[in-house]
Amino acid sequence: MNTRTFTLLTLFALSGLLTSCLKDNVAVQEFNYTDQEFSVISRDLNLPIDRDNYLVHLPQHMMGKGFIPPSINSAKATLGRVLFYDTKLSRNNSVSCASCHKQELAFSDDLAFSKGFDGQLTKRNSLPLASTANFEASYGGGGAFNGLKAGFFWDERAQSIHDQSKLTIQDDIEMGMDMNALPGKLANEEYYHILFKKAYGDDIINENRILESIQEFVNAFFCVDSKFDEGLNRTNDPFSSFPNYSTAENLGKSLFMQHCASCHSRDMSTLSTVVANNGLDAVYADKGLGGISGREQDEGLFKVPFLRNVALTAPYMHDGRFATLADVVEHYSSGIQANPNLDPLLYNPSAPGQAMQMNFTQDQKQALVAFLQTLTDYNFIQDARFSDPFKN
Ligand code: HEC
Ligand code: HEC
Repeated sequence: MNTRTFTLLTLFALSGLLTSCLKDNVAVQEFNYTDQEFSVISRDLNLPIDRDNYLVHLPQHMMGKGFIPPSINSAKATLGRVLFYDTKLSRNNSVSCASCHKQELAFSDDLAFSKGFDGQLTKRNSLPLASTANFEASYGGGGAFNGLKAGFFWDERAQSIHDQSKLTIQDDIEMGMDMNALPGKLANEEYYHILFKKAYGDDIINENRILESIQEFVNAFFCVDSKFDEGLNRTNDPFSSFPNYSTAENLGKSLFMQHCASCHSRDMSTLSTVVANNGLDAVYADKGLGGISGREQDEGLFKVPFLRNVALTAPYMHDGRFATLADVVEHYSSGIQANPNLDPLLYNPSAPGQAMQMNFTQDQKQALVAFLQTLTDYNFIQDARFSDPFKN
C-alpha cells in the first residue's frame, strides 16, 4: 500500500469514527422526549420520562466463564416493550405476546395450551422467555453452545427471536396477523411515530424494525439473580455444598448434578445437550424435532429447557402434561418410557432395552423439588422495565 492510499484510508476510518460518535451523541440527545412528545406518549403509555436502561449485569460465576453481557439498545428495547404488550399485533386486537408470556410467570403462562387470537388453542405449552438471551445474545445470534446450535421453540425451528416473532405474529392460531398490514396498522398510533424515531432516527415503521425491537426487548430478559446464583457465586463449584442452602436443597442439588445436569446444565447458563428424548411416551403423538427434520431418529426429541424459574412455569413438558414439579420428579423416578429414541442416559444400564427407573425415596423427591425452587429470580418477575406499559 502506498502512503497516499494509507493516508486516505486513515482519514476515511477517522471520519467514519467521527460520524459514528456524532451519531451516537445525536441519538442520545434525541432520546429524551420533548414535552410535546411525552404528553402524546403519556395518553396511552406509562413510560418513564428518562430512558429506561436495559444494561445487563451478569453474576460473577458467568463473567468468570467468559460470558459477555449483550449490549442492549435501550431505545429499541423500549419500543420492543410496547410492541410486546400491544394486542394490535394480533388480527382482531385480542392477544399480545404477553397474553401467553406473562411476567409474573417468568414469561410463560399457566395453561397446558395457550389461547390464540380467536380462541383456538396452541399445539404446545408456552415456553418461558427468561433465559432466551442465553441462546441468542451471549452467543452472537447463532446460538452456539459448546459448538452445538440451539434454536427457539420446543422443536428448535426458529433460529432467532426475530424469526420466531415473525412465525408467531403470522401463525393462524396464535396472532393471525398479516405481516404486510402490520406497519400500517401501527402507524395509526401517534406514539409509535415517536418511539420508532427514538429507536431508529426516523419514524419509518417496517417489518424488520418491528421484529428487531421485539428481539432487543426479549434479549434483555436475564434472570440471573436466584438463590442458586448466589450459591454458585460464593463457591464457584456447582458440586460443592452451598452455604446459603438448606440441607434439603443441598441434597436436591447433588441428586440433580448426578441425574439431571448432564442434560439440563450444571450452572444453569451453559447447555451440553440441546435436544433430547426424555421418555415421556412409548409412541409420540407430537414428533417434536422429527416433525421438522422428517427423520425417524429425531421423533420425540424436544428442546431441553433451561430450568431457571421453573417453579413458576407449570404445567410442564411440551404438552403441559404434568401439573407440578413433584409430578415431573415422579416421571424421572418411575415413569420413563422406553422408545426407539430414548436418550442413552435414560436406559437402564443393567437391563438392555429397558428404561431407567431412578427410584427416588420420598425425601429425595422432596429435596429435588426444593432444589428446583431455588432457581427462581424474584427480582426479574417484578422488574418494572419488563412490565406492561399500557394504561388500559
Ligand atoms: C397464543 C399464545 C402465544 C402468543 C400470542 C405468543 N406466544 Fe410465544 N410461544 C407460545 C407457545 C405455545 C410457544 C411454544 C411453541 C412451540 O414450541 O411450538 C412459544 C414459544 C416462544 C418462544 C421460544 C422460547 C424458547 O425458549 O424456545 C419465544 C422466544 C416466544 N414464544 C416469544 C414470543 C413473542 C415475542 C411473541 C409476540 C410477538 C409471542 N411469543 C407470542 C405461545 C404464544
Ligand atoms: C436425557 C436428558 C434429560 C435428563 C437426564 C433429564 N431431563 Fe428433564 N427434560 C429433558 C427434556 C428433553 C425435556 C422436555 C421434554 C418434552 O417436553 O418433551 C425435559 C423437561 C424437564 C422439565 C420440564 C420443564 C418445563 O419447562 O416444562 C423439568 C422440570 C425437568 N425436565 C427436570 C428434570 C429433572 C429433575 C431431572 C433429573 C431427575 C431431569 N429433568 C433429567 C431432558 C432430560
